[in-house]
Amino acid sequence: GLSRVFERGYTGPIYSDGVPLVDGDGERIGENRLEMGDFMTVFPEPRPGLGDAPTLLVRYPEEEYAEPTRLEYTVSGYAAYSKVCTHAGCMVSGRDGQTMVCPCHFGKFNPVQGATVVGGPPPRPLPQLPLTLSGDGYLVAGGDFEAPVGVQE
Ligand code: FES
Repeated sequence: GLSRVFERGYTGPIYSDGVPLVDGDGERIGENRLEMGDFMTVFPEPRPGLGDAPTLLVRYPEEEYAEPTRLEYTVSGYAAYSKVCTHAGCMVSGRDGQTMVCPCHFGKFNPVQGATVVGGPPPRPLPQLPLTLSGDGYLVAGGDFEAPVGVQE
């Protein structure tokens, strides 16, 4: 999680309200980046070498989120979850309608219900990352993932 980002020598900007999220090109994510219903992969800055930091960013109207989504971790319709499957650590990269799908054993997660498992073998949801907006309108992680990322014993 983000604590490891700092341990590994993070030298980029640290804002009082969190760590910037960036896309695969290193660009920060403005508040209007995604349409409602869209997904993308983001990373807390900086990227390379952070195997546990790939993150799925989703955007839905706030009223579509239901428990156990932590609404205090959403902002402007955005929610973020670890991309690392809790079953065997593959990247959750597919979609089936609104459902997020892990390609390895077809684990399925519901992004508007806290990435709850809705199919396949994963034993627990994808941990949620607390989001907030920076003062200049970009998405930032306001803290670490709510639970350990990836495969746990
Ligand atoms: Fe994702 Fe098995 S690693 S379902």
